[in-house]
Amino acid sequence: MPEKKSAVVTSALPYANGEIHLGHIASTYLPADIFTRYSRLNGREIYHICASDDFGTPILIKAEKENKTPAEYVQYWNRRDHDDFAALGISFDLFYKTSSKENVEFVQEVFQKLAKNGHIYDQSIIQFYCTYDDKFLPDRYVIGKCPNCGAENQYSDLCEKCGRVPDQILEPKCAICGRPPVKRESKHYFFRLSSFGQKLKDWLNSNVHLQSDVRNYVVNWIDEGLQDWDITRDLSWGVPIPLPEAKGKVLYGWFDNHLCYISTLKKLISEKGGDGKKFWNDSEILHFIGKDIVYHHYLFLPAMRLGIDSEYKLPDYIPTRGHLMLQNQKISKSRNWYIGLRDFVSSFNPDYLRFYIASVITYSQDDLNFDFDAFSEKINNELIANVGNFVNRALSFTQKTFSGAVPEPAGQASDVQTETASVVAESGDLLARNEIDRALKRILKYSNFMNQYFQANAPWANKDTAPTTIYVSVNSARSMAILLEPFIPFSCEKIWSQLNLPGSIHKQSWESAVERAVKPGHQLGKVEPIFRKIEAKEIAEWKEKLGKK
Ligand code: 2FM
Ligand code: ZN
Repeated sequence: MPEKKSAVVTSALPYANGEIHLGHIASTYLPADIFTRYSRLNGREIYHICASDDFGTPILIKAEKENKTPAEYVQYWNRRDHDDFAALGISFDLFYKTSSKENVEFVQEVFQKLAKNGHIYDQSIIQFYCTYDDKFLPDRYVIGKCPNCGAENQYSDLCEKCGRVPDQILEPKCAICGRPPVKRESKHYFFRLSSFGQKLKDWLNSNVHLQSDVRNYVVNWIDEGLQDWDITRDLSWGVPIPLPEAKGKVLYGWFDNHLCYISTLKKLISEKGGDGKKFWNDSEILHFIGKDIVYHHYLFLPAMRLGIDSEYKLPDYIPTRGHLMLQNQKISKSRNWYIGLRDFVSSFNPDYLRFYIASVITYSQDDLNFDFDAFSEKINNELIANVGNFVNRALSFTQKTFSGAVPEPAGQASDVQTETASVVAESGDLLARNEIDRALKRILKYSNFMNQYFQANAPWANKDTAPTTIYVSVNSARSMAILLEPFIPFSCEKIWSQLNLPGSIHKQSWESAVERAVKPGHQLGKVEPIFRKIEAKEIAEWKEKLGKK
């Protein structure tokens, strides 16, 4: 078998200013985790990198409101996000932070290389300034009307309606006090994004892995003309611009945050005794994102890498997914129309959320919907009635009829063998292509097939064939544990332990799921139901809570 290329997976960095909610999970972290877990089982050296996005004006505004230093403030959220992700089984190899020493140094180095290559220039600009609060008002400190699409109440650094960066926000107001700001002069540094149009187009058109609809609209943006990026902020919180004349100025958060993908990977690899740069350049690079940050990942990020002579290779894949709606409405924190991850996994098995989202997440920018009734139906009728039922029936029958010892088969049930080989190949192929929902469907079809096999062979009524039926079924339960590990890792740990198999389920090989590795005479562990049904009452309570303050 040819050696599999190593890979680096990154998930968009969450801002260190609020809790992770279901929307983040669906578009980015869960798909990235499922892909990574599958790739690990498939024998690939792969690392999943993430970090808290610590800089930027919203964070400073919030820290000020809570009377904390920004460093204290982001430290809290860094820890909190890390723990919340772990509770959902998002298995990062390193969750670091953009304010780390490693990142700050790396970002300054990149700035200097870009400057040396002529991609940065300075210019005095007129900045909004609030005379009442006595400060410059970058980005989110100013709210106004988007000049591109006319949406009201948009921040000056990103319009949430049209996804573009408003160049000249209309009807500006100070976000702290609501007063209209005045204008003052300040020296700013600009990145010559405008000079990268052709190179970016060449890259976008030559990268066959990019989703074509996203590529097309990004190419349209380029054709409309790219603006240079003001990468300076007159703030104290950020990566200091490494020039003596730029004292008191820092780099814009979107200059430094994506570089943290690289600096964090370098830290991880150097701790393993390797060369991070070499690893990056020898690997396949995948950046998982939600569609709201396409502009930054398809234009700004690659342009910066091109600007330092592609010293670090450009992404091979940028899996981009749509937004999650909640009960068919847009998620909104201010209307309390959202579900915090911590809250959710404190009442439901984290695998239920993983299973539900995996079953609806397409590989596209289409928005998806979290619906409580559909959630409970999927868990009760698919996960529990299909997968849970089969595994529990097979194992408890072994327990009751054969004292927990796997019987010696009299035949091979070759139809099952064929079906097992095909589910392993087909679902693996789909996962490798990031078609998560389709892969899960394929595995559920297998589970359904096994339920029918069990039912048709009725081991309770057929003494002669029962040993074969049970031997085959227990082995299929093992196959399913491996195939479902990327989706429902906690439950697969339980299945593995009930099967009483050695080693960790997370370290098995995908291919080995075709084998019948549970041998006759093998003694099972303690068998019990793996799942608990969701009650109508729980769903009613959750629905009731939504939208209430
Ligand atoms: O939009 C966001 O939430 C940003 N914090 C994502 C940053 S991803 C990056 F680092 F490239
Ligand atoms: Zn003000």
